[in-house]
Amino acid sequence: MTIQVTWLSHSGFQVQIGDHKLLIDPFLTGNPLATASPDTIEADFILLSHGHGDHVGDTPAIAKRTGATVVANNEVAGWLQATQGVENVHTLNPGGGVALPFGWVELTIAHHSSSLPDGSYGGQPNGILILTTEGKNIYHAGDTAVFLDMQLIGERNIDLAMLPIGDYFTMGIDGSLKAIEFVKPKAVIPMHYNTFDPIAQDVVEWAQRVNNETAAKPVVLDPGGSFQL
Ligand code: NI
Ligand code: MN
Repeated sequence: MTIQVTWLSHSGFQVQIGDHKLLIDPFLTGNPLATASPDTIEADFILLSHGHGDHVGDTPAIAKRTGATVVANNEVAGWLQATQGVENVHTLNPGGGVALPFGWVELTIAHHSSSLPDGSYGGQPNGILILTTEGKNIYHAGDTAVFLDMQLIGERNIDLAMLPIGDYFTMGIDGSLKAIEFVKPKAVIPMHYNTFDPIAQDVVEWAQRVNNETAAKPVVLDPGGSFQL
């Protein structure tokens, strides 16, 4: 089964696993780098790392139009259901997971904050593990600082990691290199950079350092660009 990963810019991804269409953190409206439209993008599942507006993004509209099932923490998924009219949700918490038709989705810890767009409490921020039935494992770190417990995630045989590199709101380049050392992914896609001025980053320098200082393969995508796993 082919796994196609498309970067929507910022922390947003479309992950196609066979016939199953997943979105992660689909922030399109108000995102100056977005190339996809929230009116046409397809989704069977939407996975959310935390409650901030640049991650929840267009989830309410996309979920209601497509009927997609949202997987997020208890507060974020519960808020989408109670206040946004999203019908199908899984309300996880860190360390917990759910079996879905393409594999296992589990929330990890992340060190960040998490309030919802209307100011409601958004629970704990998360990273997302996708352990596919085929045996390919993906780790989307969400917004986070680097943390030592990433070594536990590194024991899950990660084929692809998506890591923030923008600094200011999350770890920057130095932190991401440390995270790669802990997570040991075969390939790594940088995210959460260049969307706004405070997170401008030299991604060429990042890729050179990943090549020189780690065993991972850096995969730099343009918004709308894809990587086959
Ligand atoms: Ni955030
Ligand atoms: Mn963010």
